[in-house]
Amino acid sequence: MENLQDLTKKAQAALGKQADVIAASPGRVNLIGEHIDYCDGFVMPFALDRYIVIAAARNGTSQAKFSSAGMPDVVIPLGQPLEVTEPKWGNYVRGVIHGFYQRGLVPPSFDAYVVSSVPGGAGLSSSAALECAVATLLEGLCGITLDKKDKALLSQKAEHDFAHVPCGIMDQFASTFGEKDKLVMIDCRSGEPSMVPFENPDLTVIIANTRVHHELSDGGYALRRKHTEDALALIGKPSWRDVSMADVAANWEKMGTPVQLRARHVVGEISRTQNAATALAAGDYTTLGKLMYESHESLKNDFAVSCVELDHMVEIAQSIGQKGGVIGSRMTGGGFGGSTVTLCESSRAAEIMEKMASEYKQRTGINAEIFSSRPSQGAHLILA
Ligand code: GLA
Repeated sequence: MENLQDLTKKAQAALGKQADVIAASPGRVNLIGEHIDYCDGFVMPFALDRYIVIAAARNGTSQAKFSSAGMPDVVIPLGQPLEVTEPKWGNYVRGVIHGFYQRGLVPPSFDAYVVSSVPGGAGLSSSAALECAVATLLEGLCGITLDKKDKALLSQKAEHDFAHVPCGIMDQFASTFGEKDKLVMIDCRSGEPSMVPFENPDLTVIIANTRVHHELSDGGYALRRKHTEDALALIGKPSWRDVSMADVAANWEKMGTPVQLRARHVVGEISRTQNAATALAAGDYTTLGKLMYESHESLKNDFAVSCVELDHMVEIAQSIGQKGGVIGSRMTGGGFGGSTVTLCESSRAAEIMEKMASEYKQRTGINAEIFSSRPSQGAHLILA
């Protein structure tokens, strides 16, 4: 895997002329708190040491051009209204430029080259990394610094309006606020992140990309979100944070299936995430691991966003178990394929990764992409 320095060199070289601005923004993995960022819940992601890097040079024309290996160029005339169009990957870029226009900012014209070490379609937020990298690049080109929260919200709106994914705030917050050795604990009701130390060298986070991505995902995400909105309306409380398991039980019949199951996931996952934060702070890794497995079960059975391959990967980690150095494991991100996150003892990490890869290959015939990552720096300018 290329480190940030190598990626930066690669972007600069591919641009073919001296860059004026270089920006980087990372993907993310979520330890716990899944599908509750759009339910006023708590989430606990961190920024991966995997980045999208963009190098840009002013070009003295009236347009911005984005290039990337194997992708059609995206050419955007600046200062004119933007709409959703081909090529698709350009919509993330257009959405972010549109957000700058809305803030009265029109960047100077430029050519840009995009490189990435964030696996795409793996539930690790390569799209948020792209949005936040573009936003950071434009900050550099415009000579301004947006408030971090505003930058994350601008990027989220780009995803809503230009990629048509009604995502929550987790990914863009993690990519923007990420810090070395810190988790980004987000209270999604207040919209405030707080940084949680995660520096114990004895703990390793393993990310296992199943390399499957089920088509259902597009409509599936929006439908889950709608189920949670329907559930909350039926329960009749203003926020999920005011809803207890007793409220879910009292409205069980009224909600019917599958909405009742979605509600049970949301309330359970909010409390699991709070309990996980407490367990982590106390160094109670047994409890933390148990909460991760419970989260996976709930995502599988009640929220129905897991899939056979994710379940295999979690089962494999769980069967290695505490004796083998595994603390906990679960699917991470939106689901329907993508990756799992596994917390383990550092001294056993290499051996665990090998076992996960070989057993998964045996069960599914697929070569998974398995790596470890530490919490890393969020979106930043490398050159400005
Ligand atoms: C995707 C979305 C996030 C979040 C997760 C599920 O990554 O972009 O906002 O909802 O799914 O936790």
